Amino acid sequence: MIPIYLFYAVLLTSSGVPVAIAASQRSIFLLAGQSNMSGRGGVVNGTWDNYIPPESSPNLAILRLSADLNWQLATEPLHRDIDTTKACGIGPGMVFASSLLRKDSSIGVVGLVPCAVGGTNISEWAPGGELYKGLIRRAEAALEGGGKIRGLLWYQGESDTVSREDAESYKNRVQNFFLRVRADLLLPVLPIIQVALASGEGEYVEMVREAQLGMDLVNLRTVDAKGLSLESDGLHLTTPSQVSLGRMLADTFLQGQPSSITSNASRTHPRSVTNLLDSFLRCVKKPLEPFFDDQPSSPPHVLKNRD
Ligand SMILES: *[C@@H]1O[C@H](CO)[C@@H](O)[C@H](O)[C@H]1NC(C)=O
Ligand SMILES: *[C@@H]1O[C@H](CO)[C@@H](O)[C@H](O)[C@H]1NC(C)=O
Ligand SMILES: *[C@@H]1O[C@H](CO)[C@@H](O)[C@H](O)[C@H]1NC(C)=O
Ligand SMILES: *[C@@H]1O[C@H](CO)[C@@H](O)[C@H](O)[C@H]1NC(C)=O
Repeated sequence: MIPIYLFYAVLLTSSGVPVAIAASQRSIFLLAGQSNMSGRGGVVNGTWDNYIPPESSPNLAILRLSADLNWQLATEPLHRDIDTTKACGIGPGMVFASSLLRKDSSIGVVGLVPCAVGGTNISEWAPGGELYKGLIRRAEAALEGGGKIRGLLWYQGESDTVSREDAESYKNRVQNFFLRVRADLLLPVLPIIQVALASGEGEYVEMVREAQLGMDLVNLRTVDAKGLSLESDGLHLTTPSQVSLGRMLADTFLQGQPSSITSNASRTHPRSVTNLLDSFLRCVKKPLEPFFDDQPSSPPHVLKNRD
């Protein structure tokens, strides 16, 4: 349909499965935060039940960047070689990717970059620290084979609900983290979707939650975990909750994308691009999928938190 579909390459994954990849069109997503992003769905008493919901099953169009920086067919648990000190289970990443593929045929191959580590507080993610450097290193490695970083999914905060000082500083620390990630990746308006905590162990959950819901950064959206059920440990989202969360993250991401050419594209894109599209439209009968954001000349999409 569009020329970038022509640049196909065949990659042999480490699991030996040949995967056809439109490398230049790969949509890369960074996954970071603590255990609920890493995934503990189906983990009871430190053991994963091995149940993979249909929404999280492998798909040739979903890859993951392994700990040793190779793209491979993505399978659960996504964070198994990243968050290595605890048993990993189902998280939101696979469902997020399969929902995107189902709802947006222009998304191409989805490349997931797992970076979350259980039990980590925001201070440990501060720029310059090991987690931060690991995130940037993995993001840069992900880009080497082509593609574009389309978003950061962030689910963290539980570990900052225990002390008042941490809870009070949470908003500034997270904002600083988001801004530095964007600056270091040279993606000043990188879409970020964060998850607001529904509850937590610490005394200051409400304070962290308010900080999350009240954050006002361009292209930052917040998904609320309220109403999602927890494992018997009272700490982690269950597998069905992770499935719901993955869908919510995908829907929220897609809401921030231009939905079609009939939207306000002509107002937000330079005339030359519009003219090009007009001529293109005259040649095709089928409705087009959105692809504006692959045009280098298009301006950033502006999402506002809580809009
Ligand atoms: C988990 O451990 C608790 C306490 O040791 C026990 O009562 C429970 O049956 C265990 N659950 C499973 C699924 O093994
Ligand atoms: C964050 O976690 C680290 C490592 O567990 C700990 O040393 C530190 O006290 C925690 N809190 C802050 C505010 O750094
Ligand atoms: C996981 O998410 C749930 C729902 O937001 C929250 O109540 C819980 O505190 C989180 N647990 C951890 C360890 O982050
Ligand atoms: C397009 O812009 C107009 C005027 O700002 C607005 O009323 C309308 O809702 C927009 N339509 C879409 C699809 O965004």
